[in-house]
Amino acid sequence: MSTEGMLRPVTTLRLTEMKQRGEKISMLTAYDYSMAKILDHAGIDVILVGDSAANVVAGYETTVPMTLDKMIYHAQSVTRAVERALVVVDMPFGTYQGNWKEALSSAVRIMKETEAEAVKLEGGREILESVDRIISAGIPVMGHLGLTPQSIHKYGTYAVRAKEEHEAKKLIEDARLLEQAGCFGIVLEKIPAQLAGRVARELTIPVIGIGAGRYVDGQVLVAHDMLGINNDFSPRFLRRYANLAEIMANAFSSYVQDVKSGSFPSEDEQY
Ligand code: KIV
Repeated sequence: MSTEGMLRPVTTLRLTEMKQRGEKISMLTAYDYSMAKILDHAGIDVILVGDSAANVVAGYETTVPMTLDKMIYHAQSVTRAVERALVVVDMPFGTYQGNWKEALSSAVRIMKETEAEAVKLEGGREILESVDRIISAGIPVMGHLGLTPQSIHKYGTYAVRAKEEHEAKKLIEDARLLEQAGCFGIVLEKIPAQLAGRVARELTIPVIGIGAGRYVDGQVLVAHDMLGINNDFSPRFLRRYANLAEIMANAFSSYVQDVKSGSFPSEDEQY
C-alpha cells in the first residue's frame, strides 16, 4: 500500500473498492484508547468494537450480558484514538431484536455518542426490517452470519455452523438479503471455507471471515486472542502472533521482586 493509502481514512466505499481490486481487508477488535491507537498506527483497515469485550474485558462466559451503555463507553474510548481505520461498533444483545424502532434508536445512540462510522448486527432475515430502517437513516450496517455468539443459548454450542445443506442454503439466502438491504459488508464466523468462498464470490460487498477460511475478502480476529493475552481459548482458526500473557506475567513478577527487594525505585527514578 502507498503511504498516501495508509494515511487516507478508510470508508465503507474504500472497502468495496478494495474487494474490487482483490486487496484483502484487515480487521481486529479494540475496546480501549491505547489498543486502538496501536492498531490504527499499524495500518489496520477496520477496528471492531466487539461485544466480545464481555468475554475478554469483563470475564463473562457469553456476550449476552453486554449493554448498550458499556458498548458506547468502549466505542468512545476507541474513536478518540483512531485517525485512519473505519470503526464499527457491535450492537449488543437485546438492543435490536425486538422491533425496528428499538433497533434504530440504539443505532442512533451509538452513532451520536461515539462518532463511530458503522454498526454491526447478528442475524439474517429475522432482523431485516431493523437493518433496513437503520440503513435508511443513513447509518452503515455490517451483517454477521454463521456462528452468532449472541444466540449461544439457542444453539448450545460454539461448533462450526452451516455444515448441513439446509443451513448453508439459509446462510447464502441471508447473505443475499443483507446485501440487498444495503449492508456494506458481512462477517462470516466459523463456517466451512468453501461455503464462505462461495458467498464472497456471489456478493459484491466485502465478506470478512473469522474461522471461515481463506477464500473471503478479509479476516477479523479478537485482538486479545491473537496477542495471546488469553491463552485459554485455542480454536483451530486462531493464529497467535504473540504470547503477551507470558511477557506480561514476567514483567509483573519482576516488578514485584524489585519492589520487595527495594531495587525499585533507584536513585535515578526519584525526585
Ligand atoms: O464481538 C466480536 O469480537 C465479534 C468478532 C468475533 C467478529 O463479533
